[in-house]
Amino acid sequence: MTKSTTPTILITGTTGNIGRELTKQLLAQKVPFRAMVRSTKKLEAFSEMEGVELVVGDFNDATTVADALKGIERAFLLTNSSEQAETQQSTFVEEASRAGVKQIVKLSQWAADTNSPVRFLRYHAVVENKIKESGIAYTFLRPNLFMQGLLAFRSTIVDQNKFFAAVGDAKISIVDVRDIAAVAAAALTEDGHAGKIYNITGPEALSHQEMAEKLSAALNHKIQFVDISPESMREALISVGFPNWQADGLIEDYAHYHRGEASIITADIKDATGKPPHSFEEFARDYAPKFS
Ligand SMILES: NC(=O)c1ccc[n+]([C@@H]2O[C@H](COP(=O)([O-])OP(=O)(O)OC[C@H]3O[C@@H](n4cnc5c(N)ncnc54)[C@H](OP(=O)(O)O)[C@@H]3O)[C@@H](O)[C@H]2O)c1
Repeated sequence: MTKSTTPTILITGTTGNIGRELTKQLLAQKVPFRAMVRSTKKLEAFSEMEGVELVVGDFNDATTVADALKGIERAFLLTNSSEQAETQQSTFVEEASRAGVKQIVKLSQWAADTNSPVRFLRYHAVVENKIKESGIAYTFLRPNLFMQGLLAFRSTIVDQNKFFAAVGDAKISIVDVRDIAAVAAAALTEDGHAGKIYNITGPEALSHQEMAEKLSAALNHKIQFVDISPESMREALISVGFPNWQADGLIEDYAHYHRGEASIITADIKDATGKPPHSFEEFARDYAPKFS
């Protein structure tokens, strides 16, 4: 990256699952960008970030968000799904409007809807509507369940060769975050993505049992999926430190998967990037060392 070019693209959620992939892809494409981080401390782990313009910003502090947005034309908006997410993202939209941002690429979620029984899907839809009302051009990325979400089950996969969820045998068109990041990169760097809603899925719909079989093949030993009750799943989430709001949200999310509401396969990754999505086999092969 050339330091003399003033970036007009801002990335948020830089240190997260999608943000890390997105920064990697923009760096590889030599696209100048500014990256908002909550603390510079975390960046010591991001050697590949060298040369990127960094700005320290906290979604809970509108002044720092306004500073991060100065001179920006296209912004990628991502927070984690916490009880504060709707407020944090709304603050970002207000500051983006004041700063004269031309386009927001918002990381939303599959089936975002203000009337959904799933709290995550409701807040995402509320923020989508705020962006529309602001008059800023939008691109909404609504991905399905992340393949890399399986890494959250890493400890039981490594210790017990098992993973547990309240999802039954429902099929989900699970998607690789590398492909979500590729759609974000396209929307931030090319024209033609404004006003689009991308419903982002992987190339096939799989049950957790089928994921376990494919993971077993990649790891060369048997990994078992164990279906559990929502109550047991909630207890497990609370025991590893999830706040109640998030644990309840995840239970609602898995109930939505259980009802088979996330099994449709779309061509949106190919449409947006020109490339086919990664298969679960590719994900399992590439991430096998992380499960060992
Ligand atoms: N997981 C799934 O299967 C799935 C499926 C569809 C959609 N989604 C959506 O994906 C989003 C999460 O994406 P992800 O997994 O990439 O997120 P993530 O890994 O949880 O990362 C969240 C990012 O937000 C940053 N952040 C959090 N609070 C902040 C604050 N107050 N100020 C500034 N930055 C802050 C974090 O920075 P720090 O490193 O400093 O904490 C981190 O970079 C959610 O909106 C969720 O609804 C998830």
